[in-house]
This record gives sequence, structure tokens and C-alpha cells, in this order.
Amino acid sequence: MRGFAVEWLALREPVDQRSRSGDLSSALAARLGARAQISVVDLGAGTGSNLRATAPLLGPEQRWTLVDHDGALLAAARAALTQWAETTVEDGEPLVVEKAGRRITVSFQRADLAADLPAALGRAPDLVTASALFDLVSPERIVHFAAQAAARRAVCYVALTYNGVQRWSPSHPADSAMAAAFHRHQRTDKGFGAAAGPAAPQHLAEQLRRRGYEVLEGDSPWVLGAADAALLGELQSGFAQAVSDVGTLDALDALDARTLDAWSRLRRTGGVVGHTDLLAFPP
Ligand SMILES: C[S@@+](CC[C@H](N)C(=O)[O-])C[C@H]1O[C@@H](n2cnc3c(N)ncnc32)[C@H](O)[C@@H]1O
Repeated sequence: MRGFAVEWLALREPVDQRSRSGDLSSALAARLGARAQISVVDLGAGTGSNLRATAPLLGPEQRWTLVDHDGALLAAARAALTQWAETTVEDGEPLVVEKAGRRITVSFQRADLAADLPAALGRAPDLVTASALFDLVSPERIVHFAAQAAARRAVCYVALTYNGVQRWSPSHPADSAMAAAFHRHQRTDKGFGAAAGPAAPQHLAEQLRRRGYEVLEGDSPWVLGAADAALLGELQSGFAQAVSDVGTLDALDALDARTLDAWSRLRRTGGVVGHTDLLAFPP
């Protein structure tokens, strides 16, 4: 949770990968997998987890641009992709790697998506993708994104947007109050204006449909068990920190410090965190 540290992104990557909607992955592969060449822009790419999950669904020659405002994450992405690849063909700029019969050319672009989305999208990518990003984005910026994607007639594949569902096991009497407070934190400004938070999947789908897109949606929940103890622990402390942060902005009635402390101390052995994947085809 705290920020987007390389360690946090590494912890969530295997869970993200197993949680993606299989129906949507199959639909993406069916519609775009046979194209000999494809250009892809990955927004808020972090360490490149989305490329590692999505490239196997696409064709033999892929050209990716990974966009992020965090230069350290892009450097980590380059290192992680070099490790992930079977062969690194060229280790210059861009990076060219081979994996499972695919040749993937990767450029890294440091840019603030809130300031200049059109430049990040470039002229006409075939596919615009993002994972674990859109709940940080404001409704206004989602409108802007949909308009820019539509102007380029780009296919959109947006995975793992938080949708507000959370359940913990074992449960605690303060779970609902904690979720409500966490959602208040989710709607604070994460760099794009007041974020859509758990309403992001619905906003995004609506905005793309308005522009004539055929929109498919699929659930991609994290279903966490005892084997995910490290992620569960990070999640729980991240949620508690978010709630405590928002408490300084907005007096919390249902949650006093003792309740928050008791909630944080209860050891969880499982949980569900709801996400939505979206795949949208232009008219
Ligand atoms: C939750 S992480 C997801 C990273 C990656 N897509 C993944 O699935 O692992 C959100 C990413 O968005 C990036 N990000 C957040 N705000 C941004 C902005 N205004 N411009 C560019 N990147 C941004 C962060 O640096 C981070 O890498």
C-alpha cells in the first residue's frame, strides 16, 4: 500500500495475475491476438506487471510504451522485464526482449498523466491499457481519458480497478465502518483531482459506452487465503493507515482510536478485495 513501492508492487503481482478476469483475457486474445504487429501504451505502468500479464495474449511483434511519473519504478520495470525475458535482443533505448515466441520492444516514458495524457497516448496506439490505476483518477479525468482514447479509436483494456468490495476473515464488528472510512480516503486527491475511488469502474464503462464503445466487464477479485499472509498483513496496515489519515481530514464518528487499534490487531487469515476488469472496443 504505502505509496507504490517496488516491494508492494512485487507482492501484489502474482495475486493480480491470478485474479484477472479469464473471460476478458480470452476476449482480448481472440480479438487482437492474431494481429502480426500491435502497439500498446500502458498507463501508470509501475514495474511492468501489466505487460507481463498482457503480452502473452497478444501477437508475435509488440511495441509497448510504459508510462509512469516515477522514474525509479520505470528503472525497476526495465530490470524486471530483462529478467522476465528469455532473451534481451537489444539493451539500449528502447529495450527489445523475446519471450515465448514474441518480440517485444519496450520504451519507457516518464510523464505525469494528470498533466499531459495526449502526449502519453501518442498518435494512435492500437491498445491502451492500465492496471490498478483508475481508482486513483477523478471522474473528470476519466471523461478526458475516454475522449482521448475514442479520438484514437484505441481498444482499451483496464484491469484490476478497485470496485469497493471488501470482506475480511475473520470479520470484525468495525469492518463496515472501516470500509466506509477507507472509501472516503479513496476519494481524496491522488494527483488527478478528487479520485473516483470505488466508483471508477462504473464511470469508465459509462464514458466509453457514451462514445460508442462495446464494453465488456469482468470481476477480478483478490481472493486471499493463508498463503497470502504477507499481502494480507500489508493490506490491513495500509487500510488502517488510510483510515487514520482520513480521520485527520474528517472527524470519524464510528471509529475511535481504540477501535482502529483493535481492528488493526485482529490477525486475518483471508479476505476478498473486489476489482473490475474492462475491455472496450471502439465503434
Ligand atoms: C497501483 S500502481 C500500479 C502499477 C502497475 N500498473 C501494476 O499493476 O503493478 C499505480 C501506478 O500509477 C502511477 N501513477 C500514479 N499517478 C500517476 C500520474 N499522475 N502520472 C503517471 N503515473 C502515475 C504510479 O507511479 C504507480 O506506478
